[in-house]
Amino acid sequence: MKKDLISIKDLSVKEIQDIFTLTDQLKKNKSKFSKALAGKTLVLLFQKPSNRTRVSFEVGMYQLGGNAVYLSPGEINLGVRESIHDVAKTLSRYADAIVLRTFEHQNVLEMAKFAEAVVINGLSDFSHPCQALADIYTIKEKLKTVKGKTLAYIGDGNNVCNSLLFACAKTGMNMNVASPEGFAPEAAVLSEAKKISAGSAEIKIFYDSVEAVKNSDVIYTDVWASMGQEAEAEERKKAFKDFQINAKLVSLAKKGALIMHCLPAHRGEEISADVIDGKNSVVFDQAENRMHVQKAILIKLLKR
Ligand code: CP
Ligand code: NVA
Repeated sequence: MKKDLISIKDLSVKEIQDIFTLTDQLKKNKSKFSKALAGKTLVLLFQKPSNRTRVSFEVGMYQLGGNAVYLSPGEINLGVRESIHDVAKTLSRYADAIVLRTFEHQNVLEMAKFAEAVVINGLSDFSHPCQALADIYTIKEKLKTVKGKTLAYIGDGNNVCNSLLFACAKTGMNMNVASPEGFAPEAAVLSEAKKISAGSAEIKIFYDSVEAVKNSDVIYTDVWASMGQEAEAEERKKAFKDFQINAKLVSLAKKGALIMHCLPAHRGEEISADVIDGKNSVVFDQAENRMHVQKAILIKLLKR
């Protein structure tokens, strides 16, 4: 494995499989791993709010016998109080790994470049690899296989969508993306995802959610305005109004299609309450699996 986990692209297909195999073991036999990372410390350096990412990493570290230190947005004031270089060098003297949640993706790359400690991308404006890995693991758990299945992503071509595109491409899952004009994933991301998949998975872009969900096994969405885009929220509500996952849309997918959302969710916007709270919703399994998959990632990266 590479030193850091910045993007799904950093992982080979085999490494993803190995992470999932270890995740299975961690879920089956939690106590066996209770000292796996004894003496290790993880720093969580967050410039944005978080529930799942912070708590799943902190609790995961605790369950592996290690420690976690959380640094909230105001504490380090990355790049303002101190340069990324100096923060990376200093934290590497104390900690074995750093999870960075930030705005510009460049910040994660810079942190990884200067830190001797392992750096894990805990979400940037560009990507959210830990989320996508937990999502694919969850789909595999529910459907037994991901290869040849189709995920319909309805909404913004954002960080979560980008990482899902790379993760689907790596694991052979087809992905349909439906976004309003102007909000589709970047052309460069699409061409990279297509290159990764090398024909093993199909990636299709739609500007209509109805066409995108047809024959899908999984329907996924995320908020219309991500963290940092709060000022655009009202304008985005108008642009995305026909891109809600609701009962009518779900009825066009395969019967029993899984409903997924990385959370936090806005009921009544990107997803209706009856759908996210319905019987095919696996959103809290996804949230739980964040912790199990990240424990596997931490073991793999810290015990190389
Ligand atoms: N899905 C996710 O990353 O949630 P948080 O923003 O709460 O960490
Ligand atoms: N796209 C969302 C994901 C939150 C987990 C955001 O960046 O705010």
